Amino acid sequence: HKASMVLDRAYVLSEIDSRIYGSFIEHMGRAVYGGIYEPGHASADADGFRGDVADMVRELRVPLVRYPGGNFVSGYNWEDGIGPKDSRPRRLDLAWRALETNQVGTNEFMQWAKNVNAEVMMAVNLGTRDLDAARNIIEYCNHPGGTYWSDLRKAHGYSDPHNIKLWCLGNEMDGPWQIGQKTADEYGRTASEAAKAMKWVDPSIELVACGSSFRAMPTFPQWEATVLDHTYEHVDYISLHTYYGNPDNDIANYLGRTLDMDEFIRTVISTCDYIKAKKRSKKTINLSFDEWNIWFHTLESDKVIEPWQIAPPQLEDVYTFEDAVVVGLMLITLLKHADRVKIACLAQLVNVIAPIMTENGGPAWRQTIFYPFLHASLYGRGMALRTVVSSPVYDSKDFTDVPYLESTAVWNEENGELTIFAVNRDTVNPLQLDCDLRSFEDYSLAEHLVLESDDLKACNTAANPYRVVPHNRGEAEMSGGRLTVALPKVSWNVIRFK
Ligand code: AHR
Repeated sequence: HKASMVLDRAYVLSEIDSRIYGSFIEHMGRAVYGGIYEPGHASADADGFRGDVADMVRELRVPLVRYPGGNFVSGYNWEDGIGPKDSRPRRLDLAWRALETNQVGTNEFMQWAKNVNAEVMMAVNLGTRDLDAARNIIEYCNHPGGTYWSDLRKAHGYSDPHNIKLWCLGNEMDGPWQIGQKTADEYGRTASEAAKAMKWVDPSIELVACGSSFRAMPTFPQWEATVLDHTYEHVDYISLHTYYGNPDNDIANYLGRTLDMDEFIRTVISTCDYIKAKKRSKKTINLSFDEWNIWFHTLESDKVIEPWQIAPPQLEDVYTFEDAVVVGLMLITLLKHADRVKIACLAQLVNVIAPIMTENGGPAWRQTIFYPFLHASLYGRGMALRTVVSSPVYDSKDFTDVPYLESTAVWNEENGELTIFAVNRDTVNPLQLDCDLRSFEDYSLAEHLVLESDDLKACNTAANPYRVVPHNRGEAEMSGGRLTVALPKVSWNVIRFK
């Protein structure tokens, strides 16, 4: 097959908000305990945080980490996680049927985030709690001092406020699995009142209202419309969550799943703008895709995990090469909507459906999905370009007209760098790409990174951590302002110009 693309520096879609390279640490499984935090581990710092994991998080340049949930937050008393560690309560976590020791809480997490150069996107509990707990945690975290909660923070050893700028108003409140599920009207009213109180404590914060838990929820997209009708003037973003998988081992269909993600984003944008029109508002609500990833490998096996354990090995999906290609496709889809998607969180970051895995007391390693995320985070900053693409298409079980070529381009004018991200969905043949680079004639080809494998199911494990890694021997060629390249079958490609 043959595909073509035109790029021009005049075709700018939007500046990319670097927060789209965010991730997520939930109090569940071994994300916190045994993941980022393991006192006694050979690499642990004085506070018990693993140095090997922190190094890999820094390598990914994650600018934002969502915390502490997830479903967990809907039963969380944030006050359990502050003050002397030996007097913190052990609680039943009803979301994941585990035991929470509260040895890591808000202050420790803020310290860890600082150490890995990330901002925190903090979620408040609107499941079992309400605006009172929400306004108090903002006062504890962000108020300088001279009040009950801010002085308590100081007494706990944190004299400077944490200044957390981004807050989630609960999590997946439409889901029957949620502790304290709500109807759209119930949630909309609660979120609106919580938002007002939180912004009265600190007017500089931004707020994310919960959208539907995923696109197939029966209430989608009426949920979004109703919630925004209640909250429009008080919130800044609406959330989207999605997880894909390949349970019936149909690779052509699996690679097509990002057409669903694209349609999901378009529908949420339309719904936001419908409420904007209805309210005659000048304000635009943007999108926070604050949970996205592959999640399916452990859905069955996790059902037999014994309840009420501390840090059980939940959602420890071992990712394959094909999963990494789909993660690449998801990143391209986010970039193609950089004008409205301002925040996104790869869910999650360590051990729980994660790019980074650890063994308790043992090594940390990079899963296959680490690499496309790394490339996008390193080279996908600057301006997202509108590309003019022509590609042959195929049909799969659930999708029609799936383009073999999925691609986008990012221009970093400041660094003088241009990067094309491209996936070939063809599972049999290479894809011949011809790209007209017009106004970038003064740029030359710097590198063509490729993630490819003859085995779609190849994984990285503790025993074999480097089985699936990118190489820079891609065969892109540039001459007279034209790029020509054969993209290998089922591959993730990063073509860089300087
Ligand atoms: O990321 C795992 C879970 O997926 C989160 O807790 C929840 O918000 C979603 O359903």
